[in-house]
Amino acid sequence: MNFNIRRLNNFEGTFKVPGDKSISHRFAMLSAIAQGRSVASNFLFSEDCLNTINCFKQLGIEYEIKGNEVHTYGKGIGGLKSPNEPLYVGNSGTTIRLISGLLAGSNINCIINGDISICKRPMKRIIEPLQLMEAKISSQNNDGFAPIMIESADLKAIDYRMPMNSAQVKSCLLFAGLNARGNTKIIESIHTRNHSELMIKQMGGKIFTNNMEILIRNSQLKAIETFIPGDISSAAFLIAVALIVPRSEILIEDVGINKTRIKFIDILKNMGAKIDIHANEKKQLEPIGNIRVVTSDLKGIMIHDVSEIIDEVPIIAVLAAFADGVTEIHNGKELRIKESDRIKSIISNLRAMNIKVEEFDDGMLIHGNPDNVFNCKFESYHDHRIAMAFSCAALRSEEASIMKHIDCIATSFPNFSEYFKGNIDNI
Ligand code: S3P
Repeated sequence: MNFNIRRLNNFEGTFKVPGDKSISHRFAMLSAIAQGRSVASNFLFSEDCLNTINCFKQLGIEYEIKGNEVHTYGKGIGGLKSPNEPLYVGNSGTTIRLISGLLAGSNINCIINGDISICKRPMKRIIEPLQLMEAKISSQNNDGFAPIMIESADLKAIDYRMPMNSAQVKSCLLFAGLNARGNTKIIESIHTRNHSELMIKQMGGKIFTNNMEILIRNSQLKAIETFIPGDISSAAFLIAVALIVPRSEILIEDVGINKTRIKFIDILKNMGAKIDIHANEKKQLEPIGNIRVVTSDLKGIMIHDVSEIIDEVPIIAVLAAFADGVTEIHNGKELRIKESDRIKSIISNLRAMNIKVEEFDDGMLIHGNPDNVFNCKFESYHDHRIAMAFSCAALRSEEASIMKHIDCIATSFPNFSEYFKGNIDNI
């Protein structure tokens, strides 16, 4: 399916966005190994998160969906059973990496598989450290990619300095650490998203953080009831549209404002964006707040590292195209191994809209043009964040533009186009 996208003249209103993808995954997994019934409201019912739930159903866990709530009947650590069929994660990197860590020491034998894109994404980054923990995990074709095979093993704790900045790899090892003998220590060089740490702590797990180090011990988890905040990475698309469409003003309510996720807002503010965050006072598992955005004149910026804005680079690149001056993005090699090679997919879409771009091995240089006139055919490369970022750009095109292959949006933000009814239609 494709989108036909027409120019938006202004964007106003008060909105909420669906629940956070990273937190929904972690809830579906950790509640399965907690003892008793856990409840999460505002769970994200996207393809990726539903794939996580389906995997755990195959592992013997019962979930009930009631409105926007998920009720999990957790069976405690050691309560999962080996599945009869391979587990299928679809397009979800978070599912395959986190579930591998969780199952490695859970007395489970299984194969984990996914779609074509998942089978091209690197899994050595989890296989190698899990093998150091004495996990029996391998890539079925011995090529470092999925399908992944896991056999039952007793894990031992390790000290591990992260060779890359990845919350998926960190969380994989923390989940393995919940089942390992001794203290697993993980050392990061930046603070990647810390949702696993916060949820394990809330569930009573033995986890301790000290600056860049995280220590975790074999622990039983207790059930929780929680509200999953709106996904700030989905809100980023609405924020961007409000910034570039004239005479816009929006308020986004009840969105997650965890410090490890809002670095892109600092970057946008440095580009001249008028954005205010109001934190809710109420103490909860994750920080939550409201975000107000008004149309702003943007200027180019230098970005030295993408680690803390990894999911927002596509939409930042779109904003850079409408900004005055040059934007440079460096230290972004990880962008090449996401749902698509995001350096390539961003650059080819920027070129389609007549923007001058230079490609680096680890990033790009974008010559912004606030007066750019374009209408074009964009390509999603089957990557949800590319599809949404350039659909936002198309809302500023002169005449209708097309975004091709938009089915991938269902992996993270299924109702994205409803925010722009009348301007974005399926064709
Ligand atoms: C995620 C971590 C990030 C991010 C992904 C979700 C998570 O991936 O890009 O969308 O939920 O832990 P990396 O760990 O590969 O950076």
